[in-house]
Amino acid sequence: MFCLMEAQIESLCLKVLKEIAACGDEAQLEALRVRLLGRGGELTAFSDRMRELSKEEKPRVGKILNESRTALTSALEERKAALVAEQEGKAFAGVDVTLPGTAFPSGALHPITQLMDRATQIFRRMGFALADGPDIETEWHCFDALNTPADHPARNEADTFYMPDGRLLRTHTSSIQIRTLEQMAPPVRIIAPGAAYRRDEVDATHLAQFTQMEGLYVDENVTLGDLRGTLEFFFRELLGGDAEFRFRPHFFPFTEPSFEVDVRTAGLAGGRWLEIAGCGMVDPAVFHAVNARRGDQALDPERFSGFAFGFGLDRLAMIQSGVPDIRLFTDGDQRFLSQF
Ligand code: DAH
Repeated sequence: MFCLMEAQIESLCLKVLKEIAACGDEAQLEALRVRLLGRGGELTAFSDRMRELSKEEKPRVGKILNESRTALTSALEERKAALVAEQEGKAFAGVDVTLPGTAFPSGALHPITQLMDRATQIFRRMGFALADGPDIETEWHCFDALNTPADHPARNEADTFYMPDGRLLRTHTSSIQIRTLEQMAPPVRIIAPGAAYRRDEVDATHLAQFTQMEGLYVDENVTLGDLRGTLEFFFRELLGGDAEFRFRPHFFPFTEPSFEVDVRTAGLAGGRWLEIAGCGMVDPAVFHAVNARRGDQALDPERFSGFAFGFGLDRLAMIQSGVPDIRLFTDGDQRFLSQF
């Protein structure tokens, strides 16, 4: 038999289903859910009234109540999902999601830093460690210990930045050879990239501050052949396997014999010979100077020999990338820098 409560539940359900369908936003829908299924809600109230029913009615009405609760709950959820979808649709109205997004400009390493990193990697593969030293140097580390006499033109006030206290901005990274030998005993195998400073007129090929990379290898039986093999391997890795080399006799106070290294390769500067580095076998006078400072004979010239080299990273970057003016590296113009 159909009882009154069954009819009441049914009519409530019908009414509420219409209300759900007409609900225009999520807040309204939530209010409806609470009004219906919340504590003291309209549907919940029927559960409380179950005890008024007879033994036969109870299970039937209970079942209807459960089915109604399930049906209404899922109707509420469906309507909620539909409202969310509708809202998202509105938010994207007029937006073409196939258009390319906004690009975030990301920074990059400066071209000289990139070259320094590449050069460092190549030397590290040959077992060279990184060494460092101060930019503000003593005359002894920058010149005297490197066998450079007091009247050498590089020491001139017109060429070098001197501090009031007599120290100076290092004119080359060769001072790091001395800093390293003061601290270590052979075998020594280091490279040292860093800034160098000269009182030069700034023009297309000169800056007052530029970047060098120094190398030093001291051990038993180090030969000129080792020097040549090391530098040729390095520059071939950096510039390409077909590079040719010329070791031209030259003079540096701290090496004997000394050379300038020229490179020629079809891809660079129209195949012209380019001067790229200075190098040589460490002059025993350098060992003697450092021994005297150390107070020992760690660098015994009878037992040890060494080679050293140095080259300018700015100049190398110019050659490699065909950059006509060294000032482009320091001007900070994004149009230039973003090409690297
Ligand atoms: N220090 C030299 C310069 O600045 C470059 C150089 C030449 C470094 C010969 C060396 C070397 O280590 O052996 O021009």
